[in-house]
Amino acid sequence: MGTYSLANKVALVTGAASGIGLAIATKMYEAGCHIAIADLDAAKAEAAINGLPAQGGQQKIAIQADMSDYGSVYRMVESCEKQLGSVDILVNNAGFQYVAPIESFEPAMFQKLIDVMLVGPFVATQAVFAKMKERRWGRIINISSINGKIGAPFKAGYCSAKHGIIGLTRVTAVEAGDSGVTCNAICPGFVDTPLVRNQLEDLGSGYGVTPEKVLEEVILKQVPQNRLLDTAEIGDFAVFLASDQSASITGQAINISGGYVMH
Ligand SMILES: NC(=O)c1ccc[n+]([C@@H]2O[C@H](COP(=O)([O-])OP(=O)(O)OC[C@H]3O[C@@H](n4cnc5c(N)ncnc54)[C@H](O)[C@@H]3O)[C@@H](O)[C@H]2O)c1
Repeated sequence: MGTYSLANKVALVTGAASGIGLAIATKMYEAGCHIAIADLDAAKAEAAINGLPAQGGQQKIAIQADMSDYGSVYRMVESCEKQLGSVDILVNNAGFQYVAPIESFEPAMFQKLIDVMLVGPFVATQAVFAKMKERRWGRIINISSINGKIGAPFKAGYCSAKHGIIGLTRVTAVEAGDSGVTCNAICPGFVDTPLVRNQLEDLGSGYGVTPEKVLEEVILKQVPQNRLLDTAEIGDFAVFLASDQSASITGQAINISGGYVMH
């Protein structure tokens, strides 16, 4: 266990079968909490849980959930409460990318991006909020993006959802008041995950360069550290935000971007 302990807490991380969510769930589990890995893909969620070593007394469960379906989100929270006793730490991480110029952007895809990355997190927050306040302790961590702070071409739906969740983060923090519950957003830059790798081809056609060149000539040129981030870097920071030591930090949208965005 590292510097920050999450012992005896229960963390529910959405979209945690892959990438950033998996790193957050793994780091939180290593910090001593019980963990629920929720994902649209039940088999991948199960595999992720099986990949975590048994650790004295800590429980670990997989839950299938679709963040774009209210009923599924409520059932996810209920299932975690029933099996692990509570949700002390909620991480709204599930997401996907779709890139197209505005002129040809599918309205249904715009809606889906908002549903998964903004409405779903709102419903999950609603489902855990009252009990966190009653227990006088809670952590809600929303995974936004640097695209929650700046516009990026071809990402109308994604940028809108990621800007929106920063607004939700601020309202949640204000409504949490002095209850002992905090809510913050993490805004990652480019992290090496399937979500980033899978968009290179479409971005390449948007920018008129090959997929290989998009990374080098478009993406990394904007990043002072000139590198993709590792998922563990986001996981470590999420553990800190979930710990007692971060109690005074709330309503913030914190960049982890290798210097890409500085506001
Ligand atoms: N990778 C990056 O560079 C980057 C940068 C900024 C923000 N983010 C954000 O981080 C989060 C995780 O992204 P990632 O890069 O790890 O992606 P990823 O594709 O590796 O993982 C996303 C996970 O979310 C799940 N998911 C997708 N739709 C879902 C739904 N409707 N319900 C439940 N689960 C669903 C997928 O099955 C997958 O396991 C996303 O919110 C993403 O927008 C990523």
